[in-house]
Amino acid sequence: MKPEKLFLLLLFAGSCFSAEQDLPAGEEAFHSKQYSDFEKPETCQSCHTDIYQQWSQAMMSQAYTHHWDEIEYFDLAVAHAKVVPELKPVVDGCNGCHAPLAYLSGDVPPPRPAENSRANESVSCDLCHSIIGFKGDVPFNFNYISSPGRMKYGAKAGLKSPHHDTEYNEFFTKAEFCGTCHNEKNPYGIWVKSTQLEWKEGPYGQQGVVCQQCHVPKALGKNAKMAQEDVVAQHLFHGAHDPGKLAGAIEMRMHPEEREIEYDGTAVIKVQLFNGKAGHKIPTGSVEDRIMWLHLTAQDADGAEYHLPVDKKGFAGEAYTIAADELAYQDMGIAKGIENFPGVQRDGVPIGDRIFRMPYFDKQGRMTIQQWNTASLGTDYRIGPRETKIETFTWELPEDIALGKVTFTARLNYQRLVKPVADFLGVPEEESEIVPINTATTWIEVYD
Ligand code: HEC
Ligand code: HEC
Ligand code: HEC
Ligand code: HEC
Ligand code: HEC
Repeated sequence: MKPEKLFLLLLFAGSCFSAEQDLPAGEEAFHSKQYSDFEKPETCQSCHTDIYQQWSQAMMSQAYTHHWDEIEYFDLAVAHAKVVPELKPVVDGCNGCHAPLAYLSGDVPPPRPAENSRANESVSCDLCHSIIGFKGDVPFNFNYISSPGRMKYGAKAGLKSPHHDTEYNEFFTKAEFCGTCHNEKNPYGIWVKSTQLEWKEGPYGQQGVVCQQCHVPKALGKNAKMAQEDVVAQHLFHGAHDPGKLAGAIEMRMHPEEREIEYDGTAVIKVQLFNGKAGHKIPTGSVEDRIMWLHLTAQDADGAEYHLPVDKKGFAGEAYTIAADELAYQDMGIAKGIENFPGVQRDGVPIGDRIFRMPYFDKQGRMTIQQWNTASLGTDYRIGPRETKIETFTWELPEDIALGKVTFTARLNYQRLVKPVADFLGVPEEESEIVPINTATTWIEVYD
């Protein structure tokens, strides 16, 4: 190659490189674009019919409009920032992930969902397919690099489309792509969302089983009306809003230490809980809102029912992992303008049940569901990917227990938002619905 050609090539390569580096990401990208830089999902729909319908049923298409998001954003976060102005940047930042087009266009707070603005497109087709990488070492706080235009980036090379150009970009095959929005650090420096980080340190991350394999699974089909049949990424993005995704996410078995017990004896029941299905901890993501709990009951030969509280293990902060009659979430009073707000029930599930969760605390040390107001995290008692936890229930048989068979039933339940908070804020019922994850049974024989 002639030296001048090599020079031109290097110059060209160099300018591509710096163009990517020059594009802003994260907070720097605020107001760096306009809504009109992005095409509407309905434009993509005309050719990408199946993918459009999948996306429109997923939370991605509702990240801004979904009722609970609207309530938390406007009634708690925006209202809180009015009382505490330093919070404005972080509250504006909610949109970097939930209404990215609005954030990139500098339109914050965006119009309410009912006003039907382009903020409603939420995490749209064109937003994701304009991402070319991320800035920094760790993906978090919407530090994706957005480069909208005629070029649509994806995970396949050499595709031809009449509407746009296409280019293979390795980033689409990486968990970091998802991590730009699924990891979040708040102004206190706390990781309030860390799904990709949990994944990375777990077995799936180490074995390179990326998020896409479980949430954008591939199947034979057509990715566009006029395309050839091929293996196509299904845009399901199914998570905690899909009861089928939650079902069986934790496998559960239990057994008694001894099968035959004298009527005045003590039964010891052990429950094994194995996270065999998720690539990260359960719960993950909006951990401040989510709980999973284990409820154990016994029924004797006469049909009498007993509720068994879990045994304490004695680790620091354990009190937050056993349902109790406590008040919490007092910091909602700031946004709501209620002085000396006493809070609402912390758990809303039967007292004595084991709760798998990680509590978030405000700077006064009170439990909070406001991630932007979180100054520290409590004990992480969630179930990690491929981790098994054992819970024990020691039960002194009641005096009047019937002789014969006693059957135990364990139920593992999930709730996206603790019910007392949902009720207080007027969040629609479905968000605090009890979703069954699994059940298990065992028995003992009581003899005289
Ligand atoms: C007029 C039809 C048409 C429209 C409108 C259209 N596309 Fe496409 N698109 C195609 C075709 C055809 C392909 C190639 C399919 C194949 O051969 O597998 C394609 C491929 C793609 C790919 C795959 C790129 C890759 O390299 O992996 C992406 C991503 C994509 N389109 C995104 C979009 C987005 C986002 C929109 C809306 C802003 C859109 N498309 C609108 C027809 C269209
Ligand atoms: C959250 C980001 C995200 C959103 C939103 C999104 N996509 Fe994708 N899309 C991806 C990723 C990631 C892949 C590649 C997945 C893989 O191959 O592992 C992909 C792949 C594709 C492909 C190629 C599929 C194939 O395997 O042949 C097309 C076409 C496409 N997307 C179009 C769309 C359209 C149209 C929409 C909106 C209706 C949309 N995408 C919304 C992230 C997204
Ligand atoms: C531009 C930001 C962004 C990117 C990139 C992104 N997500 Fe999301 N995702 C969100 C937001 C915001 C929500 C929450 C929607 C809601 O409930 O308000 C969400 C929701 C989800 C959910 C549903 C959770 C539930 O509660 O049901 C899944 C699953 C998910 N994302 C997986 C992925 C995967 C896998 C990728 C990478 C291929 C990805 N996301 C990339 C922003 C993003
Ligand atoms: C081995 C399969 C697997 C992998 C890999 C995986 N997930 Fe999941 N994911 C699941 C299952 C199963 C659930 C449902 C259980 C739950 O909600 O925790 C889930 C739930 C979720 C949720 C909903 C959590 C909630 O409480 O709302 C999000 C968000 C999510 N995953 C994102 C990701 C991201 C981002 C990655 C990659 C960093 C990833 N997942 C990797 C299987 C997987
Ligand atoms: C770095 C990206 C990011 C930022 C910034 C962010 N979120 Fe989210 N948010 C997400 C993702 C991703 C999910 C989905 C996680 C899951 O399903 O567990 C989510 C979930 C939620 C949920 C629960 C939705 C549900 O359906 O259960 C609410 C409410 C919410 N966010 C509100 C906010 C508010 C208010 C702010 C600003 C103070 C904010 N978010 C900032 C990414 C972000």
